[in-house]
Amino acid sequence: MGGSTIDRCWFQRSAEMEGGRSARVSLCVKRLVYLNDKGEEVKGVCSNYLCDLKPGNDVAITGPVGKEMLMPKDPNATVIMLGTGTGIAPFRGFLWRMFFEKHDDYKFNGLAWLFLGVPTSSSLLYREEFEKMKEKAPDNFRLDFAVSREQSNAKGEKMYIQTRMAEYADELWELLKKPNTFTYMCGLRGMEKGIDDIMTSLAAKDGIDWAEYKKELKKDERWNVETY
Ligand code: A2P
Repeated sequence: MGGSTIDRCWFQRSAEMEGGRSARVSLCVKRLVYLNDKGEEVKGVCSNYLCDLKPGNDVAITGPVGKEMLMPKDPNATVIMLGTGTGIAPFRGFLWRMFFEKHDDYKFNGLAWLFLGVPTSSSLLYREEFEKMKEKAPDNFRLDFAVSREQSNAKGEKMYIQTRMAEYADELWELLKKPNTFTYMCGLRGMEKGIDDIMTSLAAKDGIDWAEYKKELKKDERWNVETY
């Protein structure tokens, strides 16, 4: 995982996996091939290894050890998911649990809102799946894309995830203040500052210091960040 010249692959941990009750793991891998400064083709070691595996091959897995991406237990919660690129992986797990899987002890009836930032429309992973979820549960799922190299805002700025979020700033802030709203961020570290900037100005309107407020949210496991 890492920056533009490092392989990026993300385990998509299903909700059961997180709870330790199942051994299923899905992967979201982007094959990395690029030309270095000398014009030589370089293949990312990890992504190419994974993409070239054949069915039935054994694979050694370590980690992940973090407990950042745990879904709220409350089926009526508002779950705001902020992802860039392959940072979509944990959210796909969340959304499957919410909208596709059947569970005796969990029937999601809250609001899931996914913001996904990608460079081009061809890199919009799982789009059809997400559209199906929306058809299935139009009142429970919102979906907003930010396609940075194809879209821009009214000021002509690149459409990053935080640029898209800014269009819904007041609504997001109102949601964030609800005690059963849980926010998750996964993807490029760069988005953290952009999102903090929006939140800082929104919080200030209510006389709230965002840095302090965020600390409280984190303590309550309502602001969860896994960036790289
Ligand atoms: P861009 O590369 O056009 O600058 P991927 O992981 O598939 O490369 O996607 C990452 C996405 O996040 C891209 O759309 C990328 O835009 C975007 N991005 C890059 N830097 C930032 C940042 N500081 N804040 C938010 N999004 C970013």
